[in-house]
Formats: sequence, structure tokens, C-alpha cells
Amino acid sequence: MNVYEILKKADDGNYALGAFNCANIETFKAITNAAKKLKSPILIEASDGEVTYIGYKQMVALKQIYMEETGVPIILNLDHGKDFESCKRAIEAGFDYVHIDASKSSFEDALREAAEVVKLAHKHGIPVEGEIDHIEGSSADHRSEDPTRLQDPKLFTDPERAREFVEKTGVDVFASFVGNLHGIYASNMHLNLDLLKKIKATIPDTFLSLHGGSGIFDEDVRQAVTMGIVKVNVNSEMRIAFKMSLQELLNSTNEVAVYKIMDKPIEAVQKVVEYKIGLFGSTGKA
Ligand code: G3H
Repeated sequence: MNVYEILKKADDGNYALGAFNCANIETFKAITNAAKKLKSPILIEASDGEVTYIGYKQMVALKQIYMEETGVPIILNLDHGKDFESCKRAIEAGFDYVHIDASKSSFEDALREAAEVVKLAHKHGIPVEGEIDHIEGSSADHRSEDPTRLQDPKLFTDPERAREFVEKTGVDVFASFVGNLHGIYASNMHLNLDLLKKIKATIPDTFLSLHGGSGIFDEDVRQAVTMGIVKVNVNSEMRIAFKMSLQELLNSTNEVAVYKIMDKPIEAVQKVVEYKIGLFGSTGKA
């Protein structure tokens, strides 16, 4: 499996790969069921918190087994790696892709940290995604909040700074902030698509990823994909589907053999993943 080729194919074919967060076996099943059914390449990803819970090596082993079983390419990504050490741990454990989130660092520190990650990752043939503009919100249920209060254009990606970051570090994928928030809000969000177009024109040879794939208007996502987004991260909608389905079940059954009741939460998450794969256009691209 050559991850660069998979990204390039998506870029050339005007579709994006869904990058789905995962921290338990049920979510693994839900994502891989959907990918197999729709014959779609996918990324399965875990943040520092998620991977610490499930285990680095466990994640790598599960990915390998499910990839063999489903026959679709599965790229394993460290999502929002917080520093060089965390990316190094993932690379050495056998991850296929790492995301260094340097958005909390000064620009100079971000350049240094990302360049260091790129050096190590490229030695292992692994692409690196970089982030310098903090993508606001969190992967949670914010349905009582107005999203626009977090969509401050002053915090959005500056294309020239993105160019300097990409040129000086050699990252392969750039995660921009163009109004995409982490989480679900009182209303769906619009993206600043003009800014996204400018970013693509400024760094045309760098792949672009879109974080905060929950709760964005579908039409904005479709347009972003035609403008060069090759990867869309999704977490909150899956988390909420899982929790709501599980809560409903637990309130209505006395069953204590938990494995006997997990079908419903798995189906609920799978439904979200199938919908997103269709939206991103990667159905049948495996
Ligand atoms: O990296 C993960 C994501 O960007 C998930 O965003 O929780 O809004 O779907 P989301």
C-alpha cells in the first residue's frame, strides 16, 4: 500500500478520503463494515488520547487484520499528534501517516517541530500532515452553542504563512482553518471557500485536509472536495451516534452480556460513516 499514491488518486479523481476517529473495537467494526460495503479506501485515526486508550500496537494490529479481511486500503493515522515524541511513537509502532498539530506553538517552534517529524517520517516512507492554525472547538456535542462565535476570520489560515510552513518543513498535507470547527453546533457551518481556493492556489503541490468534518453543510463539503481537499476528518457525529444508541439500549434491556447488544451502536456509527463516504465521493474507489 502506497499512501502517497492513494492521496494522489483522490486528488486527481476529485474525491476525498474519510478519516474516521476510533478508540474501540466497535467503532473499528463500524468503520470497516462501511468501507467494505462501499468499497472505499479510508483512514482510521486516533488522537493522542484515543491511541493511549486503545494502544499503539493494538491499533496497528487491528488495522492490519481488518485490512486483510475487508480487502480495502486502510491508512492508519495519528490524529493531532501533539509533539515530536508522540509522532515518533506512532511511526515506530507502524502507523502509515502522522499529523503534527503545532497550532499551540509559536510559528518558529512549529517550523522546527514539523521539520523534525517530517525527517523521521520520510525515512519510514510516511507522509506528514501539518497544522499551524488552531482548529477551534472540540469533538463533542455543542448543540446548544452558536458556531459563528468560534469562526473568527482573524484566526483563519493565512495562505502566505501556509506557503512558508510547507516550504520550510516539507509537510505533505496541510490542515487549514477556514471556518471548519471541531464538534456539532446549534446549526451547521459554512466554510470560507474563497479562502480555501486561495490556499490551494498558493500551495498547489501540497495535499489539503479538512478537519471538523461533522456538522458542515454538505454542499460546502462537496465544493471543498472539488477544490482539492483529499481527506476529511470525522469524529463527533460518530461519537454522538454511538452514545445515543448505547444509552437507548441500556435503558431498555437487562442483558448483561454486552457483546450481545453492541450491534445497534455499531450500526448507528456505520450509518454515519457510510453517509460520509458517499458525500466525499470515495465509494467504489478501493
Ligand atoms: O481530527 C478530527 C476531526 O477533525 C474531527 O472533527 O469532531 O468535528 O468531526 P469533528
